[in-house]
Amino acid sequence: MNWRKLRVFVLTVLVLCLIPATRYYQIDVPLMRYLKGSRTVDPLSLHLAGEFVESNLGTEQGADGSVTVRMIAQQYLFVPHCILVPAGVPVHLRITSADAVHSLAFNGTIYNVKVLPGTISEARLQFSNPGEFKTVCREFCGAGHYAMRSALKVVPRDQFPVLRSGERGNCEAQ
Ligand code: CUA
Repeated sequence: MNWRKLRVFVLTVLVLCLIPATRYYQIDVPLMRYLKGSRTVDPLSLHLAGEFVESNLGTEQGADGSVTVRMIAQQYLFVPHCILVPAGVPVHLRITSADAVHSLAFNGTIYNVKVLPGTISEARLQFSNPGEFKTVCREFCGAGHYAMRSALKVVPRDQFPVLRSGERGNCEAQ
């Protein structure tokens, strides 16, 4: 047995396994975020001005049909409490935290997005079938962590309300 060859082989396999793992769990790689030049926000003034004011949260539809969801994670809830997206359409998620580190996960899916105060976390999501998913926090963030949950509703594409500019989709609109 050639130990040198074996060592190279084991290392190669490990590295090859790590690459999909970072994609699968959307592991937060500080270097990657730095290279991508992710934007920063002031967690203390989220509700007052900028992209994450209350009226701008929820599902937004661009003129080209593209879908963007903006959310805030805070102790101990996600805002909005229930998000509505169309099935089979790529969803661009933008989320930030108002306080601690949280992790937004959609039960029954592979999506798990780490949310940090001061940074906008971005993710591309797509849900092929209509349904309801429980949204939970997977990062221990304090006494209310286990109660930090909300919902995601995926509706058939043709049942998603046509949103006018400035309008945001939510579960009540359903
Ligand atoms: Cu938020 Cu745990």
